Amino acid sequence: MTVALEIENLTKDYEVGFARKRRVRALDGLTLTVERGEIFGFLGANGAGKSTTMKLLMRLIYPTAGRASILGCDINDIAMHARIGYLPEHPYFYDYLTAREFLEYCAELFGYTRTDCRQRAAALLALVHLDDKSWDKQLRKFSKGMLQRVGLAQALVNDPEIVFLDEPMSGLDPVGRREIRDLIASLRHKETTVFFCSHILADIEVLCDRAAILQKGRLAHAGRLEDLRGRAGTRAMELVVAGATAEQLRAALQPLPAAQLTQTPGGARIEVPSERDVDAALAALRDCGARLVSVQPVGNPLEDLFVANQN
Ligand SMILES: Nc1ncnc2c1ncn2[C@@H]1O[C@H](COP(=O)(O)OP(=O)(O)OP(=O)(O)O)[C@@H](O)[C@H]1O
Ligand SMILES: [Mg+2]
Repeated sequence: MTVALEIENLTKDYEVGFARKRRVRALDGLTLTVERGEIFGFLGANGAGKSTTMKLLMRLIYPTAGRASILGCDINDIAMHARIGYLPEHPYFYDYLTAREFLEYCAELFGYTRTDCRQRAAALLALVHLDDKSWDKQLRKFSKGMLQRVGLAQALVNDPEIVFLDEPMSGLDPVGRREIRDLIASLRHKETTVFFCSHILADIEVLCDRAAILQKGRLAHAGRLEDLRGRAGTRAMELVVAGATAEQLRAALQPLPAAQLTQTPGGARIEVPSERDVDAALAALRDCGARLVSVQPVGNPLEDLFVANQN
């Protein structure tokens, strides 16, 4: 595996206050490596320093200390920036251009031929599922979710080897989230490395190989999602059942004293302390003739870890 992104001791102090005399440390000694082809999630609460990291990598702001390299080149190597893509947190658009014109313009900046620019713009607008009735509308008439799609298309205009996405799902409705989620997942087949930040854990859980959690500018955890989940402890499971009375269920669950039974209008809800207890609970339920409706984890271990890191 080759390295796509290497961050070493990256630190950023913002100068604030009337005379810019006060310094606020937004990022504190971040060290992180992302392999090529990985989808890497960068998690953190509001103000944790995610966007600051992205802006430092894109050279929109400059570090107080530390260094980083992308695709084996120092971030100050301007030529390398033509091989990467970036979706900012608050993208700014030329309001009076249409979506198609804007993307053709972005493609032109990378030096593609006129025909190529046209083809790329159309292919990308289709890829981000922008309704083709909107392709020739001015961007000032677009909703937040529509602009987000245009922003994502823009980030992919040069077939980047690595793409940096700052909250790619923000402003999207549930259907839009799923479409963009699928699109990001599809980048894996093109071997595009994806580095994206979010505070929406579900997106990270579905998409990422590895993730890092940032807390007040410091790296709190980094690793494979299974390991992060493991660190968050065992997860309790909930079984929803129907077709048996509470007495029958209570009797069947006697060998499992840790199981908690709650009656519901349609049957019962049984909570067991860990995934390991699910098989035993299922066997007991089968014996008393109960019908299984669903099995799912209670809460979200990654979420618990995330919340624990806020304090
Ligand atoms: N230009 C700036 N000047 C001063 N402080 C800043 C500036 N930009 C960010 N900060 C501060 O740096 C910290 C990190 O901000 P950043 O935008 O990187 O967080 P974030 O993790 O992206 O948060 P969010 O989830 O809200 O987007 C915050 O405390 C913020 O107030
Ligand atoms: Mg941000």
